[in-house]
Amino acid sequence: MVKLNLVKSSNDELVSKPLVAVFVGATSGIGAYTVRCLAKTHGKTGKGLRVYIVGRNAKAAESIIAECQKSCPAGQFLFQSANDLALMKEVDITCKQLIKTEEKEASAKGETPRIDILVMSHANFKPWDPRNETSEGLDTFMSLLFYSRARFTTNLLPLLLSSSLPAHVVSVFGPGRDASFFPDDLSLRDPKNYGFMSSGSHAAYLKTFFFEYLAAKYPGKLSLCHYFPGLVLHEGFDSGLNDPSFPWWFKASIKYLKPIMKLAPSTVPCEESGERTLFNASKRFPPKSVDGKANIAAAGAIGVAESSDGVLGGGSYRVNYNGEQVAIGKQYKKMREDGWAEKSVQHTLKCFEDIEATGHFSG
Ligand SMILES: NC(=O)c1ccc[n+]([C@@H]2O[C@H](COP(=O)([O-])OP(=O)(O)OC[C@H]3O[C@@H](n4cnc5c(N)ncnc54)[C@H](OP(=O)(O)O)[C@@H]3O)[C@@H](O)[C@H]2O)c1
Repeated sequence: MVKLNLVKSSNDELVSKPLVAVFVGATSGIGAYTVRCLAKTHGKTGKGLRVYIVGRNAKAAESIIAECQKSCPAGQFLFQSANDLALMKEVDITCKQLIKTEEKEASAKGETPRIDILVMSHANFKPWDPRNETSEGLDTFMSLLFYSRARFTTNLLPLLLSSSLPAHVVSVFGPGRDASFFPDDLSLRDPKNYGFMSSGSHAAYLKTFFFEYLAAKYPGKLSLCHYFPGLVLHEGFDSGLNDPSFPWWFKASIKYLKPIMKLAPSTVPCEESGERTLFNASKRFPPKSVDGKANIAAAGAIGVAESSDGVLGGGSYRVNYNGEQVAIGKQYKKMREDGWAEKSVQHTLKCFEDIEATGHFSG
């Protein structure tokens, strides 16, 4: 467990440099707590902050921005409106607008346009839903958890690679969800293969392999963390109680079990969750080093984490709510031998290529 005082001092160190951060899915929940934490940590003494909140809900974004502006008066907080981000074409439109705005904002200040931190937490939690295909041929749940986030990362690479921090990509979901795997059906098109567990599992496998691919491709430049936040019982759980689309059993378990769930060891209080999510941008998670030697001394007391492919400071991390590694399962050895790291990346790149060319993916 990385102690909270170390997490906080590392976050304090983070704002000792000017930062540009992008948050996708921060109009509620963990993303909102993380952006608030960044603003508060920067406060009045940080060295400069420009934050983009990307999302659909302008009203929620405005209210979060007003809070952030209060705790960080010199910071710049901008809302980038988006539509359904389960669609790659919407991700592309959003990224184009974001890049254009950052180029304008940076040039007005004589800075290099860049992104130092990209945090993605957009998702729809409806474990009772059947496979719900987007017009582009992807499952909505899997798209929000994986394809959309992979697409954001690749589209924003020109700005991420301009960071001198270097750049940190943080995807909030659940690396330890990887269990069942259907090699002949990566998109889980067969209803017999599809379920809440298998869709989360495939999203986790695909992300592990895609992040490893990017970390290896951009050594010294890009750190990628797939972060499991623990149980974070934020206001969204309470608003779910009034959502007519939520089944009675789910509402009942939230209502009656919440006091017990709060006591579980992996339950993380909301403000602490903001701190710990931001910590994924720390020196504990450096990009893969160019010479193969991690700079352990630079990380100090927080130490350097092991990447998902077993390298100290290897650039692509599966991070638990407590800052430790989510162990890589035994099945990975055989999966790697059978070429699933490469095949998963090819699947993802083909998906992007097909949607770009025809608007649809059927692989
Ligand atoms: N909270 C937990 O206890 C917990 C535990 C384990 C893992 N996680 C994972 O952590 C991540 C964040 O969870 P959270 O609890 O913070 O979620 P949340 O409060 O429900 O926030 C989800 C965000 O995603 C956005 N979103 C949903 N569908 C979208 C779409 N089609 N297009 C664009 N934006 C969309 C929402 O925007 P709108 O405001 O526009 O709806 C919202 O900002 C998720 O991946 C979740 O699986 C959470």
